[in-house]
Amino acid sequence: MIENKNTRLRRLRKNKALRDLIAETELSPRILVQPVFVVDGSGIIEDIQSMPGIKRYTPDKLTDYVSDLIKLGVNSILLFGLPSRKDEFGSEAYSKEGVIAKAIKELKNSFPELVVAADVCLCEYTSHGHCGIVSDGMVMNDKTVELLSKASTVYAEAGADIVAPSAMMDHQVSGIRSALDNSGFEDTLIMSYSAKFASSLYSPFRCAADSSPSFGDRKQYQLDIRNAREALREIYLDILEGADIVMVKPAISNLDIVTKARSIFDLPIAAYSVSGEYCMIKAASVAGFINEREVALELATSIKRAGATILITYYAEKIAQWIQEEE
Ligand code: PBG
Ligand code: ZN
Repeated sequence: MIENKNTRLRRLRKNKALRDLIAETELSPRILVQPVFVVDGSGIIEDIQSMPGIKRYTPDKLTDYVSDLIKLGVNSILLFGLPSRKDEFGSEAYSKEGVIAKAIKELKNSFPELVVAADVCLCEYTSHGHCGIVSDGMVMNDKTVELLSKASTVYAEAGADIVAPSAMMDHQVSGIRSALDNSGFEDTLIMSYSAKFASSLYSPFRCAADSSPSFGDRKQYQLDIRNAREALREIYLDILEGADIVMVKPAISNLDIVTKARSIFDLPIAAYSVSGEYCMIKAASVAGFINEREVALELATSIKRAGATILITYYAEKIAQWIQEEE
């Protein structure tokens, strides 16, 4: 870096317009994705105990909520489903009458322009809570990929713009890509959870989605927090397999991966600020230790600055509101 003894810009920082003029990063609602929990049934909006401020909606109750998001400039959502019935094979994940297929149809009917992404995994749908089919205590990779491909096709058929496989199975992206193409959904995008680290920051989500594994953990198929190069390799493999958008998750603990991926690859990079990141800010602010708005905006801006194109966050609605209030 070139040494620069000129301190004029620094001295002029008391002028807000000038600060804004030279700002390098801008947080805008257009890059935000709101994760949404959809529960099977009708007529229900319920609080989620582990995530204060976030709710579960039945498909018929989604439209009011999403219409508020759109008014704030948040035009993208990521759907997670809670089925009425779980089984060993996660059947509700790929049933055409399943909760996510219903929700997508409902939303696309009311908001054709809304970008609808659907998480593709089995853990919310299996009785044992693992992301795939289990045999002898092990997750069966290839059988699982088949079912993830089936689910992706069902969501694409219902009208999803993006499918987002989060199971971390080997070859899940290429499996899903060929299934989509073979069914005539060449234009459905794949946003892959490419660099998904095994993390304790997912635990509020697992309570929200009722998806905790009943035995073992997800370390068999999620990344080790110590491994940055392995994360980049996973991203590279997903790109070779046909991913359109690659994701890094959790966000705050993996900004180095976001920055490195940004400099190596030219695809859009999504950073997922997960449930535990949301809850840390929420709980500390409820306790009066930090200012929720300032901390949420600061961390979101830092994720953008690190190189994320897309920011998936439970704070999407709030951030959009705060940005609007500032304007
Ligand atoms: C499903 C999935 C998880 C998250 C997103 N998709 C849970 C997990 O892997 O246990 C976590 C999201 C969050 O914590 O907000 N595989
Ligand atoms: Zn899963």
